[in-house]
Amino acid sequence: MTDINSLDLQAQEIIRQAAQNALEKMDARYQVDTKTNYTDLVTTIDRENEQLINKRLREIDPASKILSEEGFGDKGIRSLAGHVWIVDPIDGTMNFVKQHNNFAVMLALYVDGQPVLGYIMDVINHRLYHGRAGHGVFVNDQRLSTPRDLGLQESLVAMNRGLVLNGDEAIRKVAQTAIGLRMYGSAGIEMIGVITGQLGAYISHLKPWDLAAGRMLAEELGLIVKSIDGGSINVLSSNLVLVATSQVSRDIRQIIN
Ligand code: IPD
Ligand code: CA
Ligand code: CA
Repeated sequence: MTDINSLDLQAQEIIRQAAQNALEKMDARYQVDTKTNYTDLVTTIDRENEQLINKRLREIDPASKILSEEGFGDKGIRSLAGHVWIVDPIDGTMNFVKQHNNFAVMLALYVDGQPVLGYIMDVINHRLYHGRAGHGVFVNDQRLSTPRDLGLQESLVAMNRGLVLNGDEAIRKVAQTAIGLRMYGSAGIEMIGVITGQLGAYISHLKPWDLAAGRMLAEELGLIVKSIDGGSINVLSSNLVLVATSQVSRDIRQIIN
């Protein structure tokens, strides 16, 4: 039986190692390729990080499965039974390439479908947001408390580009009602915004690796993580997700429904 506490400590080392790798190579020459379209980037550093993380995860938790973005994980994962690690080797690759800022490395462990460990490393600021179900959320060694339960009119809201450009009337109304709208280009950095109380909500279409870690940390802090219409989310598929304070979530639901 694998000890979750020991996995937690080792996973923190692994994510810091991957963050250090990204930091060291950020200014060097590396290859940038496109995936689905010219705005969807992957670099050799994304691939390198994923290989590094997955290799170490297989050493520390050999019986687990790995669901990871760039194709070095296990193929065809259709269930979250047992230990499943979910890996985003660089979240905000566009920012990594263009800004050298505002990107993250993300990792989560789900056990029989339940979020158990979550990590978002804000690489440039050397801040590791990490948590374990039932044991709280920390930034490096400092414990985070639940953000104030502000409503939509008192809160900044972040959305992704697709929603801002193509969102329906209700989404526009949400953006208009919030005190301000933000777009950082990294789901991880935006989730950090919500768990630290800088944002009242983040709304975005998210894949498993965009969502898994932030969902664990947000729920552990008592924040709401739901599909935009209030339904529960399926981590294994792409979801239109709302991460928010309880009050913002109620305010948004009133607008949407
Ligand atoms: C992307 C970023 C972006 C979000 C996209 C994600 P990637 O992740 O988190 O903010 O809007 O949906 O795919 O591709 O840079 O890992
Ligand atoms: Ca990524
Ligand atoms: Ca991502």
